[in-house]
Amino acid sequence: MSHADEEHESSRRDFLYYATGGAGVVVAGAAIWPLVDQMNPSADVLALSSIRVDISSVEPGTQLTVKWLGKPVFIRRRLPEEIEEARAVEINELPDPLAENANLPSNADAADINRSLDEAGEWLVMMGVCTHLGCVPLGDAGEFGGWFCPCHGSHYDTAGRIRKGPAPTNLPVPVALFVDETTIQLG
Ligand code: FES
Repeated sequence: MSHADEEHESSRRDFLYYATGGAGVVVAGAAIWPLVDQMNPSADVLALSSIRVDISSVEPGTQLTVKWLGKPVFIRRRLPEEIEEARAVEINELPDPLAENANLPSNADAADINRSLDEAGEWLVMMGVCTHLGCVPLGDAGEFGGWFCPCHGSHYDTAGRIRKGPAPTNLPVPVALFVDETTIQLG
């Protein structure tokens, strides 16, 4: 193989590497930002489609935030006490009684089981955008131990359901599914 051929081969490999990266595998944590930046404009195309998120490094009681369709998505691995707390709430205590879950019929109720991605309730996936005027709520905060939006004081519980403040609806659950045990696909 001539030197020119070798160079061609190596840039082709690099291209394939990036092209494969662009197919939608998003790695967990801060590392996703440089990767996505470096791939512009493919990143714009990526933003329109579905993405896969590696959740293997998300510890119980913590949350991963990924950007999808230009918006933050919270992926929280809940502790047993967070699940219990959310499941103990009656629907009639909730300002928004609907699940707001794109994976379920629009009239599904806001029971905790209708909010989580798995039956055990360990994984909660929601758009990280306050339903009042669009700020990004803070995790592990607020009067209900879930999320708090400091913009105008909306409190969400450990299932992302609005409990107090001006936000009219629960944080929406986007189309999402488990592709395998450690990968969630959004969209
Ligand atoms: S934008 Fe969150 S409370 Fe207003």
